[in-house]
Amino acid sequence: MATGTIRIRKATLHDLEQVTEFTHDTFSWGDYLPQAWARLVESKRGDLLVADVDRQVVGTIRAGFLGNGEAWLEAVRVRHEFRQRGIASLLIQAAHARAIKKRCRVIRLETYVHNIPAHRAFEKIGYRPQIEYSMLEAKTRAGELDFARTAKLTDMDACLEMWERSWLKRFTKGLVPADFGWRWWEFTPGRLRQAIREKRVYLAPQEKMPRGFMITRLRDSFEVTVMVGAPRAAMKLFDAAKILAANAEQENVYWLAPHIARAKKWAADAGFAPDEDGLLIYACEL
Ligand SMILES: CC(C)(COP(=O)(O)OP(=O)(O)OC[C@H]1O[C@@H](n2cnc3c(N)ncnc32)[C@H](O)[C@@H]1OP(=O)(O)O)[C@@H](O)C(=O)NCCC(=O)NCCS
Repeated sequence: MATGTIRIRKATLHDLEQVTEFTHDTFSWGDYLPQAWARLVESKRGDLLVADVDRQVVGTIRAGFLGNGEAWLEAVRVRHEFRQRGIASLLIQAAHARAIKKRCRVIRLETYVHNIPAHRAFEKIGYRPQIEYSMLEAKTRAGELDFARTAKLTDMDACLEMWERSWLKRFTKGLVPADFGWRWWEFTPGRLRQAIREKRVYLAPQEKMPRGFMITRLRDSFEVTVMVGAPRAAMKLFDAAKILAANAEQENVYWLAPHIARAKKWAADAGFAPDEDGLLIYACEL
Protein backbone atom coordinates (compact mmCIF):
# COMPACT_ATOMS: atom_id res chain seq x y z
CA MET A 1 0.00 0.00 0.00
CA ALA A 2 1.29 3.48 -0.84
CA THR A 3 2.31 5.69 2.06
CA GLY A 4 2.77 9.10 0.39
CA THR A 5 0.70 12.22 0.92
CA ILE A 6 -2.80 12.57 -0.40
CA ARG A 7 -3.24 15.07 -3.21
CA ILE A 8 -6.61 16.27 -4.47
CA ARG A 9 -6.71 17.49 -8.07
CA LYS A 10 -8.98 17.86 -11.08
CA ALA A 11 -9.80 14.55 -12.74
CA THR A 12 -8.54 13.76 -16.26
CA LEU A 13 -9.40 11.22 -18.94
CA HIS A 14 -6.18 9.37 -18.03
CA ASP A 15 -7.64 8.50 -14.61
CA LEU A 16 -10.37 6.37 -16.13
CA GLU A 17 -8.39 3.13 -16.18
CA GLN A 18 -7.64 3.30 -12.46
CA VAL A 19 -11.13 4.46 -11.56
CA THR A 20 -12.62 1.53 -13.47
CA GLU A 21 -10.33 -0.80 -11.51
CA PHE A 22 -11.79 0.08 -8.12
CA THR A 23 -15.38 1.02 -8.99
CA HIS A 24 -16.55 -2.04 -10.91
CA ASP A 25 -18.15 -3.46 -7.74
CA THR A 26 -19.21 -0.30 -5.87
CA PHE A 27 -22.87 -1.39 -5.72
CA SER A 28 -24.53 -4.78 -6.21
CA TRP A 29 -25.35 -3.71 -9.79
CA GLY A 30 -21.87 -2.26 -10.48
CA ASP A 31 -21.26 1.47 -11.01
CA TYR A 32 -22.20 4.09 -13.59
CA LEU A 33 -19.03 6.11 -13.03
CA PRO A 34 -16.68 4.54 -15.66
CA GLN A 35 -19.30 5.04 -18.40
CA ALA A 36 -19.95 8.63 -17.29
CA TRP A 37 -16.27 9.53 -16.71
CA ALA A 38 -15.47 11.22 -20.04
CA ARG A 39 -18.68 13.28 -19.94
CA LEU A 40 -18.07 14.33 -16.32
CA VAL A 41 -14.43 15.30 -17.01
CA GLU A 42 -15.58 17.57 -19.87
CA SER A 43 -18.68 18.96 -18.13
CA LYS A 44 -18.73 22.68 -17.36
CA ARG A 45 -21.62 22.19 -14.95
CA GLY A 46 -19.47 20.64 -12.25
CA ASP A 47 -15.98 19.82 -11.02
CA LEU A 48 -14.78 16.22 -11.01
CA LEU A 49 -11.91 15.64 -8.59
CA VAL A 50 -9.69 12.72 -7.65
CA ALA A 51 -7.52 11.98 -4.64
CA ASP A 52 -4.18 10.40 -5.45
CA VAL A 53 -1.35 8.97 -3.39
CA ASP A 54 1.96 8.46 -5.19
CA ARG A 55 0.07 8.69 -8.52
CA GLN A 56 -2.36 6.00 -7.51
CA VAL A 57 -5.96 7.23 -7.75
CA VAL A 58 -7.60 6.37 -4.42
CA GLY A 59 -10.83 8.36 -4.52
CA THR A 60 -13.22 10.41 -6.64
CA ILE A 61 -15.88 13.09 -6.10
CA ARG A 62 -17.91 15.55 -8.12
CA ALA A 63 -19.56 18.84 -7.17
CA GLY A 64 -22.25 19.63 -9.74
CA PHE A 65 -23.73 23.11 -10.04
CA LEU A 66 -27.49 23.11 -10.55
CA GLY A 67 -28.09 26.89 -10.56
CA ASN A 68 -30.22 28.72 -7.96
CA GLY A 69 -27.32 28.45 -5.48
CA GLU A 70 -27.71 24.66 -5.31
CA ALA A 71 -24.81 22.21 -5.62
CA TRP A 72 -25.05 18.44 -6.00
CA LEU A 73 -22.47 16.02 -4.63
CA GLU A 74 -21.94 12.73 -6.46
CA ALA A 75 -19.39 10.13 -7.56
CA VAL A 76 -18.02 9.78 -4.01
CA ARG A 77 -15.85 6.66 -4.14
CA VAL A 78 -12.80 5.52 -2.18
CA ARG A 79 -10.59 2.59 -3.19
CA HIS A 80 -11.31 -0.35 -0.83
CA GLU A 81 -7.91 -0.60 0.79
CA PHE A 82 -7.85 3.16 1.49
CA ARG A 83 -11.22 3.38 3.23
CA GLN A 84 -11.68 4.67 6.78
CA ARG A 85 -8.55 6.78 6.58
CA GLY A 86 -10.30 10.12 6.13
CA ILE A 87 -10.07 10.26 2.32
CA ALA A 88 -13.81 10.77 1.75
CA SER A 89 -13.78 13.58 4.32
CA LEU A 90 -10.96 15.33 2.45
CA LEU A 91 -12.71 14.89 -0.89
CA ILE A 92 -16.02 16.21 0.45
CA GLN A 93 -14.31 19.30 1.88
CA ALA A 94 -12.54 19.92 -1.44
CA ALA A 95 -15.87 19.62 -3.27
CA HIS A 96 -17.44 22.09 -0.83
CA ALA A 97 -14.66 24.59 -1.51
CA ARG A 98 -15.47 24.36 -5.25
CA ALA A 99 -19.18 24.83 -4.62
CA ILE A 100 -18.58 27.85 -2.36
CA LYS A 101 -16.41 29.38 -5.08
CA LYS A 102 -19.40 29.02 -7.41
CA ARG A 103 -21.51 30.87 -4.81
CA CYS A 104 -23.62 27.85 -3.89
CA ARG A 105 -25.50 28.15 -0.59
CA VAL A 106 -26.40 24.49 -0.17
CA ILE A 107 -25.09 21.13 -1.37
CA ARG A 108 -27.12 17.92 -1.50
CA LEU A 109 -26.69 14.28 -2.45
CA GLU A 110 -28.58 11.01 -2.54
CA THR A 111 -27.52 7.69 -1.12
CA TYR A 112 -29.19 4.33 -0.62
CA VAL A 113 -31.02 4.16 2.73
CA HIS A 114 -28.93 1.12 3.71
CA ASN A 115 -25.52 2.62 2.86
CA ILE A 116 -24.41 3.18 6.46
CA PRO A 117 -20.71 3.95 5.72
CA ALA A 118 -21.87 6.75 3.39
CA HIS A 119 -24.35 8.10 5.98
CA ARG A 120 -21.56 8.22 8.58
CA ALA A 121 -19.10 9.91 6.23
CA PHE A 122 -21.61 12.60 5.21
CA GLU A 123 -23.12 13.20 8.65
CA LYS A 124 -19.66 13.72 10.06
CA ILE A 125 -19.18 16.71 7.72
CA GLY A 126 -22.56 18.23 8.64
CA TYR A 127 -25.02 16.65 6.17
CA ARG A 128 -28.52 16.00 7.50
CA PRO A 129 -31.14 13.67 5.97
CA GLN A 130 -34.01 15.57 4.34
CA ILE A 131 -36.39 13.08 2.75
CA GLU A 132 -36.45 9.53 1.47
CA TYR A 133 -37.57 8.96 -2.11
CA SER A 134 -38.46 5.65 -3.76
CA MET A 135 -38.77 4.61 -7.37
CA LEU A 136 -42.22 3.10 -8.00
CA GLU A 137 -43.08 1.11 -11.08
CA ALA A 138 -46.24 0.28 -13.05
CA LYS A 139 -47.01 -1.32 -16.39
CA THR A 140 -47.84 1.02 -19.27
CA ARG A 141 -51.07 0.75 -21.23
CA ALA A 142 -52.15 1.69 -24.74
CA GLY A 143 -55.00 4.19 -24.98
CA GLU A 144 -56.22 7.61 -26.03
CA LEU A 145 -54.99 10.58 -24.04
CA ASP A 146 -58.24 12.55 -24.06
CA PHE A 147 -58.43 13.31 -20.33
CA ALA A 148 -55.13 15.19 -19.85
CA ARG A 149 -53.39 17.95 -21.76
CA THR A 150 -49.97 19.60 -21.78
CA ALA A 151 -49.76 22.73 -19.67
CA LYS A 152 -49.28 26.17 -21.23
CA LEU A 153 -47.41 29.12 -19.76
CA THR A 154 -50.80 30.62 -18.88
CA ASP A 155 -51.31 27.65 -16.51
CA MET A 156 -48.26 28.65 -14.45
CA ASP A 157 -50.19 30.45 -11.71
CA ALA A 158 -52.68 27.61 -11.27
CA CYS A 159 -49.81 25.09 -11.05
CA LEU A 160 -47.90 27.21 -8.54
CA GLU A 161 -51.00 27.55 -6.40
CA MET A 162 -51.55 23.76 -6.41
CA TRP A 163 -47.88 23.25 -5.55
CA GLU A 164 -48.09 25.68 -2.60
CA ARG A 165 -51.03 23.75 -1.17
CA SER A 166 -49.64 20.28 -1.89
CA TRP A 167 -48.54 17.59 0.55
CA LEU A 168 -45.61 17.01 -1.78
CA LYS A 169 -44.19 20.44 -0.99
CA ARG A 170 -44.91 20.01 2.72
CA PHE A 171 -43.26 16.62 3.13
CA THR A 172 -40.29 17.03 0.79
CA LYS A 173 -39.12 20.47 1.98
CA GLY A 174 -39.70 21.47 -1.64
CA LEU A 175 -37.12 19.02 -3.04
CA VAL A 176 -38.11 17.20 -6.22
CA PRO A 177 -36.19 15.14 -8.80
CA ALA A 178 -34.23 17.40 -11.16
CA ASP A 179 -34.63 17.34 -14.94
CA PHE A 180 -31.45 15.32 -15.46
CA GLY A 181 -29.64 12.45 -13.78
CA TRP A 182 -30.13 11.14 -10.25
CA ARG A 183 -30.34 14.60 -8.75
CA TRP A 184 -32.82 16.48 -6.65
CA TRP A 185 -33.40 20.24 -6.59
CA GLU A 186 -35.78 22.86 -5.28
CA PHE A 187 -39.07 23.27 -7.08
CA THR A 188 -38.98 26.85 -8.45
CA PRO A 189 -41.23 28.83 -10.83
CA GLY A 190 -38.33 29.05 -13.30
CA ARG A 191 -37.89 25.28 -13.39
CA LEU A 192 -41.64 24.77 -13.76
CA ARG A 193 -41.66 27.26 -16.65
CA GLN A 194 -38.84 25.38 -18.34
CA ALA A 195 -40.69 22.07 -17.98
CA ILE A 196 -43.84 23.64 -19.44
CA ARG A 197 -41.82 24.96 -22.40
CA GLU A 198 -40.46 21.46 -22.96
CA LYS A 199 -44.02 20.07 -22.90
CA ARG A 200 -43.31 17.83 -19.94
CA VAL A 201 -46.09 19.17 -17.71
CA TYR A 202 -49.61 17.70 -17.92
CA LEU A 203 -52.86 18.90 -16.39
CA ALA A 204 -56.03 17.01 -15.44
CA PRO A 205 -58.86 16.91 -15.84
CA GLN A 206 -59.92 19.15 -18.71
CA GLU A 207 -62.08 21.49 -16.73
CA LYS A 208 -61.94 25.25 -16.36
CA MET A 209 -59.81 24.97 -13.24
CA PRO A 210 -57.11 22.29 -13.34
CA ARG A 211 -57.22 20.08 -10.24
CA GLY A 212 -53.78 18.53 -10.59
CA PHE A 213 -50.55 18.55 -12.58
CA MET A 214 -47.57 16.29 -13.13
CA ILE A 215 -44.06 16.85 -14.41
CA THR A 216 -42.51 14.05 -16.45
CA ARG A 217 -39.12 13.27 -17.93
CA LEU A 218 -38.05 10.77 -20.54
CA ARG A 219 -34.56 9.33 -20.09
CA ASP A 220 -33.86 5.61 -20.44
CA SER A 221 -37.33 5.29 -18.92
CA PHE A 222 -40.45 7.46 -18.69
CA GLU A 223 -40.73 8.98 -15.23
CA VAL A 224 -43.15 11.13 -13.25
CA THR A 225 -41.06 13.46 -11.07
CA VAL A 226 -43.80 15.65 -9.59
CA MET A 227 -47.44 14.70 -8.93
CA VAL A 228 -49.64 17.29 -7.29
CA GLY A 229 -53.35 17.87 -6.86
CA ALA A 230 -56.63 16.36 -5.75
CA PRO A 231 -56.56 12.53 -5.50
CA ARG A 232 -59.01 12.01 -8.40
CA ALA A 233 -57.00 14.27 -10.68
CA ALA A 234 -53.79 12.50 -9.66
CA MET A 235 -55.31 9.11 -10.56
CA LYS A 236 -56.18 10.44 -14.03
CA LEU A 237 -52.66 11.77 -14.42
CA PHE A 238 -51.11 8.44 -13.40
CA ASP A 239 -53.24 6.83 -16.08
CA ALA A 240 -52.09 9.48 -18.55
CA ALA A 241 -48.47 8.73 -17.59
CA LYS A 242 -49.03 5.04 -18.40
CA ILE A 243 -50.32 5.97 -21.85
CA LEU A 244 -47.57 8.54 -22.49
CA ALA A 245 -44.94 5.96 -21.54
CA ALA A 246 -46.56 3.38 -23.84
CA ASN A 247 -46.47 5.98 -26.64
CA ALA A 248 -42.75 6.35 -25.91
CA GLU A 249 -42.45 2.57 -26.46
CA GLN A 250 -41.83 1.80 -22.79
CA GLU A 251 -43.10 -1.30 -20.99
CA ASN A 252 -42.92 0.33 -17.56
CA VAL A 253 -43.58 3.77 -16.16
CA TYR A 254 -41.96 5.12 -12.99
CA TRP A 255 -42.95 7.55 -10.27
CA LEU A 256 -40.27 9.03 -8.03
CA ALA A 257 -42.21 9.50 -4.82
CA PRO A 258 -41.38 10.44 -1.24
CA HIS A 259 -41.48 7.51 1.14
CA ILE A 260 -44.53 8.60 3.15
CA ALA A 261 -47.96 7.10 3.82
CA ARG A 262 -49.82 9.49 1.49
CA ALA A 263 -47.66 8.59 -1.49
CA LYS A 264 -47.93 4.88 -0.69
CA LYS A 265 -51.73 5.15 -0.76
CA TRP A 266 -51.67 6.96 -4.12
CA ALA A 267 -49.23 4.40 -5.48
CA ALA A 268 -51.40 1.48 -4.37
CA ASP A 269 -54.54 3.11 -5.85
CA ALA A 270 -52.77 3.78 -9.15
CA GLY A 271 -51.14 0.33 -9.38
CA PHE A 272 -47.54 1.40 -8.73
CA ALA A 273 -45.22 -0.87 -6.68
CA PRO A 274 -41.72 -0.20 -5.25
CA ASP A 275 -38.96 -1.03 -7.71
CA GLU A 276 -35.75 -0.85 -5.64
CA ASP A 277 -34.16 0.37 -2.39
CA GLY A 278 -35.11 3.80 -1.11
CA LEU A 279 -32.86 6.81 -1.63
CA LEU A 280 -32.07 9.22 1.15
CA ILE A 281 -31.55 12.86 0.17
CA TYR A 282 -29.03 14.68 2.37
CA ALA A 283 -28.30 18.41 2.52
CA CYS A 284 -25.54 20.56 3.98
CA GLU A 285 -25.55 24.36 4.25
CA LEU A 286 -22.37 25.88 2.80
C1 LIG B 1 -18.66 5.95 1.75
C2 LIG B 1 -17.19 6.03 1.47
C3 LIG B 1 -16.96 7.05 0.35
C4 LIG B 1 -16.47 6.50 2.74
O1 LIG B 1 -15.11 6.72 2.42
P1 LIG B 1 -13.96 6.72 3.53
O2 LIG B 1 -12.74 7.33 2.93
O3 LIG B 1 -13.83 5.36 4.09
O4 LIG B 1 -14.57 7.69 4.64
P2 LIG B 1 -13.73 8.46 5.76
O5 LIG B 1 -12.53 7.64 6.11
O6 LIG B 1 -13.50 9.86 5.35
O7 LIG B 1 -14.76 8.34 6.97
C5 LIG B 1 -15.64 9.38 7.34
C6 LIG B 1 -16.44 8.93 8.54
O8 LIG B 1 -17.32 7.87 8.16
C7 LIG B 1 -17.09 6.72 8.98
N1 LIG B 1 -17.13 5.48 8.19
C8 LIG B 1 -16.56 5.27 6.99
N2 LIG B 1 -16.76 3.99 6.60
C9 LIG B 1 -17.47 3.41 7.61
C10 LIG B 1 -17.98 2.11 7.81
N3 LIG B 1 -17.76 1.13 6.91
N4 LIG B 1 -18.68 1.85 8.94
C11 LIG B 1 -18.88 2.82 9.85
N5 LIG B 1 -18.42 4.08 9.72
C12 LIG B 1 -17.71 4.36 8.62
C13 LIG B 1 -15.68 6.88 9.50
O9 LIG B 1 -15.52 6.18 10.69
C14 LIG B 1 -15.53 8.36 9.62
O10 LIG B 1 -15.98 8.82 10.87
P3 LIG B 1 -14.96 8.98 12.11
O11 LIG B 1 -13.86 9.83 11.62
O12 LIG B 1 -15.81 9.59 13.15
O13 LIG B 1 -14.49 7.61 12.42
C15 LIG B 1 -16.58 4.66 1.06
O14 LIG B 1 -17.00 3.68 2.01
C16 LIG B 1 -16.97 4.20 -0.32
O15 LIG B 1 -16.27 4.49 -1.31
N6 LIG B 1 -18.08 3.46 -0.45
C17 LIG B 1 -18.59 2.98 -1.72
C18 LIG B 1 -19.14 4.11 -2.55
C19 LIG B 1 -20.29 4.81 -1.86
O16 LIG B 1 -21.13 4.20 -1.21
N7 LIG B 1 -20.32 6.14 -2.03
C20 LIG B 1 -21.37 6.97 -1.52
C21 LIG B 1 -22.47 6.93 -2.49
S1 LIG B 1 -23.48 8.30 -2.33
